[in-house]
Amino acid sequence: MAARKESTRVAIVGGGPAGLMLSHLLARDGIDSVVVERRTRAEIHATVRAGILEPGSVRMLVESGASRRVLEKGDRHDGIELRIDGDGHRIDFQDLVGQSAWLYPQTDVFADLADARERDGGDVRYAVQDVTVVGVTDAHPLVVFTEDDGSAVELSCDVVIGADGSRSACRKLIPDAQRRSYFREYPFAWFGILTEAPHSAEELIYAASDRGFALISQRSETVQRMYFQCDPGEDADQWSDARIWDELQSRVAGNGFSLAEGPITDRVVLPFRSFVCEPLRHGSLFLAGDAGHTVPPTGAKGLNLALADVGVLHEALAELLLGGSASGVDSYSDRALARVWKSQHFSYWMTTLLHEQPGASDFDRRRQRGELESIASSRAGSAFLAEGYTGWQHAAVAQPVA
Ligand code: DHB
Repeated sequence: MAARKESTRVAIVGGGPAGLMLSHLLARDGIDSVVVERRTRAEIHATVRAGILEPGSVRMLVESGASRRVLEKGDRHDGIELRIDGDGHRIDFQDLVGQSAWLYPQTDVFADLADARERDGGDVRYAVQDVTVVGVTDAHPLVVFTEDDGSAVELSCDVVIGADGSRSACRKLIPDAQRRSYFREYPFAWFGILTEAPHSAEELIYAASDRGFALISQRSETVQRMYFQCDPGEDADQWSDARIWDELQSRVAGNGFSLAEGPITDRVVLPFRSFVCEPLRHGSLFLAGDAGHTVPPTGAKGLNLALADVGVLHEALAELLLGGSASGVDSYSDRALARVWKSQHFSYWMTTLLHEQPGASDFDRRRQRGELESIASSRAGSAFLAEGYTGWQHAAVAQPVA
């Protein structure tokens, strides 16, 4: 059966937050796009991801009309606790850099964007198969795929966006000779749980202890998200609830503090990787989000970085497709990568600051405590953390979010 021929200006491979946000922003400028996504909407929605938004991400969601819910349901956090061997030190974002972070799970960001695309008549095809992209150095590349109902489509476009996640197929369209990959693995992972329990503290707790790192995060008044550092080969199903709580409690214990426990409803072992692909462009193909870079989860930069890419890419594409100027798309890769590498550093730094390195010497451990003290006990050190965590917004120029 011959493929049905269709055309659009921007073909977006990947319907996660990066792909949907770009499609939403382009639509506001009157630029057509089609999003093709391998998973069903329900599958994406069921994926548990991180929960912290930088103010710049919140502003993008609100000002573009993609989400009001982030202001209504999201929780503003003006600081975090750094807990060092049971001793808490507050990092006060407002006092240090005049900013806040927002607790609003990525699942909700996805739901808001998917709803907004549906509301605005956006063209998002979920559950497509056999997506192939050809001709990204030709005038009109093609994205060929099979729809949910089995029909084949040949979509002609001006520009292809690879927003297809960390296992991106689009990335491989950049020829080996022109593509550089920067990669780092870590000798640990996170054991993540969801639990039906009340908050243990008002703000997030990032804990360093001699048993390793733990992060006490939140989802709602009644559901909490927690993580602890574990071996990457750990099998989450081998752990009883009691053993999980023991491990979490031991990493935050001190000064009479303990976690409010409840039934554990989800458990997963999350791998740690740092990865950057350079450049983020080849011909008419542009990579955005995890397709171009991955960060380890400490500090929750992944989604924020994806939205930052999309902000730069949206402006560049509008210049190209409405104004005929290529200067924005020509500088996209360099401009996006400048932020990517800052975030890579921040995520790597927060990770190594707080985790136990297997095989660490006594010197390594004492040095790490010295580093933690130099952050916790110094305004300049704390401000460095606060500035990176809230996304390097400059208080003097940043607009308040609400
Ligand atoms: C969450 C995840 C993170 O990696 C982080 O630094 C903070 C919060 C979360 O899932 O809630």
